[in-house]
Amino acid sequence: MINVLFICLGNICRSPMAEAVFRHIVQEKGLQRQFHIDSAGMGSWHIGNPPHKGTRKKLESLNISYEGQKARRIDPKDLDKFDYIIAMDQQNMDDLYALSTVTHGAEIRKLMDFVEDAKEKNVPDPYFTKNFDYTYELVQKGCEKLYDYLVSKHFKEKK
Ligand code: 4NP
Repeated sequence: MINVLFICLGNICRSPMAEAVFRHIVQEKGLQRQFHIDSAGMGSWHIGNPPHKGTRKKLESLNISYEGQKARRIDPKDLDKFDYIIAMDQQNMDDLYALSTVTHGAEIRKLMDFVEDAKEKNVPDPYFTKNFDYTYELVQKGCEKLYDYLVSKHFKEKK
């Protein structure tokens, strides 16, 4: 089982979008039994809330399910439970490292680092930009590349 946790600030806009998009990709490939996928936020403002309306509308327009997704705050134990912690921006990275000084097993990476020649190094926050389409474009590309990375790392024979 490969455990993947997406992280953003509020866990209502970007990381729930990435969670839903990544799960959709994995399901399309029939690998859902190989992955545990979740998301969490660094902040606690929206605990228990569904994804933001802008994220919901975008996902609905693409028939991508976000069923059952509710905001939660990261738990320091997540750093042990998950193999990959995928942050949306550098602030999330800094906050993740500030959570603990202990070295954990998780690989902590930024989503956009998986995209060669990415337009952005950080996924812009549509809570502030209001541009859910552009955020989706980046999240979708990032999730595809993350999927390729994980599949070649875990499921393809290394030569
Ligand atoms: P997210 O966006 O990190 O992509 O979920 C935000 C949502 C809410 C807040 C900030 C960012 N907020 O300050 O409430």
